Amino acid sequence: MGVTSSDISITKVKNSRIGEVDPANIQFGKIYSDHMLVACYENGAWGQPEIMPFKNLELSPATTFFHYGQAIFEGIKAYKDPHGNPLVFRPYDNWKRMNRSAERMAMPDVPENIFIDGIRALVDIDRNWIPTSAETSLYIRPFLLAVDEFIGVRPAEKFMFIIITSPAGPYYSHPVSIYVQDKYVRAFPGGIGFTKAAGNYGMSMYPTMMIKKMGYDQILWTDGLTHKNVQEIGTMNVFFVIGDKVVTPDITEDTILAGVTRDSIITLLREKGITVEERTISIDEIEAAHKAGNLKEAFGSGTAASIAPISALTYHDDKMMLPDVASWEVANWLKKELADIRYGRKEDVHGWNMAV
Ligand code: COI
Repeated sequence: MGVTSSDISITKVKNSRIGEVDPANIQFGKIYSDHMLVACYENGAWGQPEIMPFKNLELSPATTFFHYGQAIFEGIKAYKDPHGNPLVFRPYDNWKRMNRSAERMAMPDVPENIFIDGIRALVDIDRNWIPTSAETSLYIRPFLLAVDEFIGVRPAEKFMFIIITSPAGPYYSHPVSIYVQDKYVRAFPGGIGFTKAAGNYGMSMYPTMMIKKMGYDQILWTDGLTHKNVQEIGTMNVFFVIGDKVVTPDITEDTILAGVTRDSIITLLREKGITVEERTISIDEIEAAHKAGNLKEAFGSGTAASIAPISALTYHDDKMMLPDVASWEVANWLKKELADIRYGRKEDVHGWNMAV
């Protein structure tokens, strides 16, 4: 607390590594930009944030988060507008969500002047790392770690907040084939499904590995009580176009991440006059809609993937094929609309973009 943006100390790299980036082949999460931001929390207060060359951390093997997973993160993207100026998409929403995750995980709030001003300063310094080819951006990864050197189990008292950035291409290069999971569970009421806690992702590795071996790309998670109501797909929110309506699971039970892309999609669709229903949706309803020829489109949404079309949904021995993505009206319109706003090609009437 009490830290202002002018308090961010900055040490720049002597030699940029930007030459490592092949603009024609930008993948997701492989290369990290020149600088990172680090701020430490101790004795109930935040210290001065520092921007420094990207480097390895030195931590005691007894550090809390290694053992008990008291760790949360966010995902945000920066784009370049047609004049080459950086735009960061809805960082205030991620900031608020990070602090909701922090509360549930017994971690301190990250103040605006570290989270937001830190992103602004970091993107400014590494603006050359924002790629400009189609569907590329600079992925911004803020994260908060419990760093007490203590292996007793109790909420930590020392924390480290870090932001790294990475030039990123599309997360999925093709429509995803989905396995409807009714054995393993991602989230249940009272749990941490609504947070971006590291453990939500760690626990998904084994079930995801198993379905990949069976030839699927991602899991559609169902609820832990009935194994019928759908929640999220992989690391994304999920949408179904049924007839002329768009349906997505509601987030009232705290089992589903309040996606910033999810919220942007709902806003844009409603403004266009399309009915969006946020409600419980069961796999039986999806099967029935598919059988009746009413399941027109299905897609995941998230910061990393933006909009990820689903090619097929497999539930037990029922493989529900979706129509060819080229014919989809809703997802293809949304993808273009969102891209036009994020890349500053269209007026940002919602005030979603933060200029740097
Ligand atoms: C994001 O969309 O930012 C995510 O959190 C997905 C990430 C785990 C790759």
